[in-house]
Amino acid sequence: MTTIAHDIKDVRLKEKGVIRTEWALREMPVLRHLMQRYADEKPLQGIHVSGCLHITTETANLARTLKMMGADLVLCASNPLSTQDDVAAALVHHYAIPTFAIKGEDTQTYYQHINAALDHRPQLTMDDGADLVSELHKSRQDLLANMIGGTEETTTGVIRLRAMAGDRALQFPVIAVNDAMTKHLFDNRYGTGQSTLDGIIRATNILLASKVFTVVGYGWCGRGIAMRAKGHGAQVVVCEVEPLRALEAAMDGYQVMPLQQAAAISDFIVTATGDKHVVDAAHFKVMKDGCICANSGHFNVEVNIPALESLAVSKKRWREYVDEYTLPDNRRICLLAEGRLVNLSAAEGHPATVMDMSFANQVLAIDYLVSQQKTLSNDVHSMPKYLDEEVAKLKLHTMGVAIDTLTDEQQTYLTTWQEGT
Ligand SMILES: NC(=O)c1ccc[n+]([C@@H]2O[C@H](COP(=O)([O-])OP(=O)(O)OC[C@H]3O[C@@H](n4cnc5c(N)ncnc54)[C@H](O)[C@@H]3O)[C@@H](O)[C@H]2O)c1
Repeated sequence: MTTIAHDIKDVRLKEKGVIRTEWALREMPVLRHLMQRYADEKPLQGIHVSGCLHITTETANLARTLKMMGADLVLCASNPLSTQDDVAAALVHHYAIPTFAIKGEDTQTYYQHINAALDHRPQLTMDDGADLVSELHKSRQDLLANMIGGTEETTTGVIRLRAMAGDRALQFPVIAVNDAMTKHLFDNRYGTGQSTLDGIIRATNILLASKVFTVVGYGWCGRGIAMRAKGHGAQVVVCEVEPLRALEAAMDGYQVMPLQQAAAISDFIVTATGDKHVVDAAHFKVMKDGCICANSGHFNVEVNIPALESLAVSKKRWREYVDEYTLPDNRRICLLAEGRLVNLSAAEGHPATVMDMSFANQVLAIDYLVSQQKTLSNDVHSMPKYLDEEVAKLKLHTMGVAIDTLTDEQQTYLTTWQEGT
């Protein structure tokens, strides 16, 4: 029996979790480099860190890195459906990291787990969606005095934290890791692109070629999803509310139209907006029979599930992540993974190669917060550009890619205005 605090599904899954975590580490050379760099220095020695992150193989490697840096670390899930139970078992019983996460946990357990992570009395928080920081500010204000700062991994979390800062409610500095170029350009685009398709395919095993595949939201995630669906031979439609993004989608070769119109012709509708009730009752009412809806945005509110439940006359679970709703006129609508992040629920989330960069940013952001000890204002701060560039350089180096450098003459030319035609 371990003395490490935990609430996980099954200790017997430990060996599988260790093997999968080690496999992921093979694709995470930048993180391996940082592990080596910080192993002797231990810049986080004794510092309490609570992380509310998707409990995946890549997160396990981030946790191992932070532990190597000296952190006293506790983890909880940032989504009720994204936990990999074998990884949770490995974290507790092999890597000796307290973990509170069970795949499929209900909302009450989800918040119990967040509070267990807060009982650790963190000085640093790591969030994916801002639930930890939000709970800390709402019901655990006694912990605020300890805080050095926090990091935020995803777009929705950054939006929530900026709203908190706007209300002057945020009581410590947070680094928006999501806003680093080496995070969202690759993780949100290529990571979400590949893994969302992976989740849909694993859940349904339906061929995408020739199907009408609608992507709602042409942000970083939406661009990746559309790009990969096109690669599968689907006819991709994009729905947007921002004119510039809609224009970009049209120039990228997709059909652009309002969702009300797209709903009637789509075989698949996938949301990635960070917004609420994007697919709503009016859309269900015109949807093509058999349409499959999935979400890759952070929360399970993008598809209005209560509206679908109230319109439907029956519901049937066909496969593990496939619920089919039948409407009074016999049209059938399928919802994948209960409207939660389909890539993390029905598949394994982003491949390690992109999480290598996202989590290298997390490590550097945490180190930066500690090195700045309380000099940063209680606001949402961008990742410093030099750290973002460091991650890019390290990644290129590990990929064996060399690039050119500016000559002195070019450097001068690019900073002067006198030279013209
Ligand atoms: N699945 C994952 O693993 C994963 C990874 C990264 C980010 N995310 C999440 O995905 C979501 C999107 O992230 P992003 O980085 O692409 O954000 P983004 O801000 O770059 O893009 C969101 C887009 O959605 C559009 N949009 C908003 N409301 C809309 C509506 N009602 N109809 C149509 N379009 C609408 C916006 O105009 C914007 O272009 C966020 O919730 C983020 O946290 C998920």
